[in-house]
Amino acid sequence: MKTSDIVVLDFGSQYTQLIARKLREQGFYTEILPFNAKLDDIKAKFPKGIILSGGPASVYADDAYFCDRGVFELGIPLLGICYGMQLLAHTYGANVRAANKKEYGKAELTIVKEHVLFKDTPTNQVAWMSHSDVVEELPNGFTALAVSEHSPFCVFGDDERKFYAMQFHPEVNHSEYGQILLKNFAKYICGCESTWNMGSFAKEQMKRIKEKVGDDKVLCAVSGGVDSSVVAALLAHCIKDNLIVVFVDNGLLRTNEREQVENTFKTRLGVDLITIDASELFLGRLAGVRDPETKRKIIGETFIEVFDMEAKKHTNVKYLAQGTLYTDIIESSVVGAGKTIKSHHNVGGLPDWMKFELIEPLKEIFKDEVRALGLELGLSRDLVFRHPFPGPGLAIRIMGEVNKPSLDLLRKADVILRDELKSTGWYDKTWQAFCVLLNVNSVGVMGDNRTYENAVCIRVVDATDGMTASFSRLPYDVLENISKRIINEVSGINRVVYDISSKPPATIEWE
Ligand code: XMP
Repeated sequence: MKTSDIVVLDFGSQYTQLIARKLREQGFYTEILPFNAKLDDIKAKFPKGIILSGGPASVYADDAYFCDRGVFELGIPLLGICYGMQLLAHTYGANVRAANKKEYGKAELTIVKEHVLFKDTPTNQVAWMSHSDVVEELPNGFTALAVSEHSPFCVFGDDERKFYAMQFHPEVNHSEYGQILLKNFAKYICGCESTWNMGSFAKEQMKRIKEKVGDDKVLCAVSGGVDSSVVAALLAHCIKDNLIVVFVDNGLLRTNEREQVENTFKTRLGVDLITIDASELFLGRLAGVRDPETKRKIIGETFIEVFDMEAKKHTNVKYLAQGTLYTDIIESSVVGAGKTIKSHHNVGGLPDWMKFELIEPLKEIFKDEVRALGLELGLSRDLVFRHPFPGPGLAIRIMGEVNKPSLDLLRKADVILRDELKSTGWYDKTWQAFCVLLNVNSVGVMGDNRTYENAVCIRVVDATDGMTASFSRLPYDVLENISKRIINEVSGINRVVYDISSKPPATIEWE
């Protein structure tokens, strides 16, 4: 059993994952659990410290989020951040109320008591606030450690219990010394050693997988993307003889994708790949379906059916390995306090009747961490830095019904977009680029003739982990060439638009 250095309990803050990231970057293995995780599940991680994240709720409201009270009795250090701070204060008898003035953005923090929490940081430092509630008084047993203009109890602590609280967010870059403060908590207060890195992560995961699998077999579903390829590589390193690698052609792939994936696995990774052509099955099930979540659920379920059929051809296939990332889980809302944003095919889209046990070695990490792991495992840069491509494929890039003519149209436009981005060097500078078939006709004029044809939207975004994204500032001449080529070369499309929405409030994929 892998123990965590730090467990973060997620009360729904948009920054929760950053806390884990900032600690992992400094060598402390950190995992996130939902705020209402069972005490036994928290204890099973043997954490040396627990962080209570921020969150949108108010501790005094009817719908406040509380963790198991046993968390305060584990005898291990705690750090409450923003909502986590208010929760600590409330638990130990201090009044928390709505602030007269909400405090967002930069604040000047002044340290009022020398403390190891502030080691290697100056007395005055910029901290980043985002709160509308204030702690009115110090909770029982706590001492003020730092103040800000509007928060006399900006940082407070109790050295006896090793409980600390910060009103600001040390995990965001705008908090000048935040990363050092998190390190100080992990290293000097919790006594964690900074030994974690991608190499140790890979070794630990392989050991865990080997122990879990024993003599049973694992079916590993690959899509050709980086996540599932990294999982396949991990498994190939540790349980090669018990591994069955499967690639499903669901009819929703891009031009030449199947050939590329087969080529990568067979010739470059030396893995025996079983390709299953299930395109008719998927497209048949999707016929007439327009609702995005229904599409996602059908695709998730059909994948499992196909894996099930394949598993029956072998003996002892007990496990299904998937490249699920932390991001997939958050957006399918298994972790945290939020609502489902979209059911990722490999999380919220899984049917109840599924019998496989899951192996998901990447489910606590982010795409950029997966890429680092891929390089560590010796995968090629080409594969590791491929743009993400979602499991539901082109189905969630065609608005409304998915059918062969729409798929053909979208594939033709998409190949031009990628071609142009690669030839201009923009492919490597962006996180993801694709076309969306809007299924909206508009009037055009070509060679003196009226046209009434489909419109395509180009979506190109910059991101580091896909949790947030901004539209890429592509030069107009690059956009112009893409548009010109799509309209001239793809019969049936007479208009190209560019998506200038960021995430949030939009998402990257349209469905
Ligand atoms: P959104 O659209 O939620 O996407 O902003 C964030 C990232 O996740 C990818 N994505 C998926 N990947 N299965 C996947 O494997 C899915 O069901 C899925 N839905 C979205 C999306 O392409 C982007 O990179």
